[in-house]
Amino acid sequence: MELVPRAIIHHPSVRRDAKRRGKKPSEVLLDRSLHHAAMKALPKAYKRGRPDIIHFCLLEALGSPLNREGGLRVWVHTIGGYAIEVDPKTRLPRDYNRFKGLMEQLFQRGAVPPGSSQPLLKIRRMELRELLEEIEPSYVVALTSHGREGTLQEICGRLVEEERPAAFIGAYPKGELEGSTLSLVDDAVSIYPEVLDAWIVTSRLIYEFEKQIKEKGRV
Ligand SMILES: C[S@@+](CC[C@H](N)C(=O)[O-])C[C@H]1O[C@@H](n2cnc3c(N)ncnc32)[C@H](O)[C@@H]1O
Repeated sequence: MELVPRAIIHHPSVRRDAKRRGKKPSEVLLDRSLHHAAMKALPKAYKRGRPDIIHFCLLEALGSPLNREGGLRVWVHTIGGYAIEVDPKTRLPRDYNRFKGLMEQLFQRGAVPPGSSQPLLKIRRMELRELLEEIEPSYVVALTSHGREGTLQEICGRLVEEERPAAFIGAYPKGELEGSTLSLVDDAVSIYPEVLDAWIVTSRLIYEFEKQIKEKGRV
């Protein structure tokens, strides 16, 4: 998820979208369904322009019993090098266009609601490595179709033993996790012989973790 990069703000598809929504081209989120032709010029275009994937994943995570019961924290790290901190109480719009509007406000104003002393969403320029230094997880697993074969049962068996476990999910359409991302994890696991959608992996990981943490009597 990112605002339209400077390199393509003059493309007709971007200008049309911005005009229709009463915004400047530099203020709209990059969205492949609208800016497909403009995106051809962008590096790693196959990984970009799909804020709908983040929308689905966040709805899955924030609506889960684990989050409602205070057992989950969610961050989004973006391709442009921003970290978004999501307050567990956040109720995101179910409507995709309203979600995009909220994210555009976040990128422009730095917080949602802007100016609040306790915003629901906060964005800061930050490398993934710096975010991890701040979160200080005791163990990090990446879920990726390019990882070693494993099961959610086994992954969560390890996560529930940890004091501050973290999991990475790639909320983008195609392509491997970056080498720089994989260098930050303790393990990288594939849970199915084919590529799954990020929101399926999100909901299944959370469900398995909920089951195992209940069995351990920790929530
Ligand atoms: C559409 S995939 C991105 C494609 C990429 N091949 C990958 O797995 O990294 C979206 C995300 O869902 C998760 N995912 C997809 N298939 C998976 C699998 N078989 N095992 C574990 N995680 C998977 C990963 O976090 C992945 O980044």
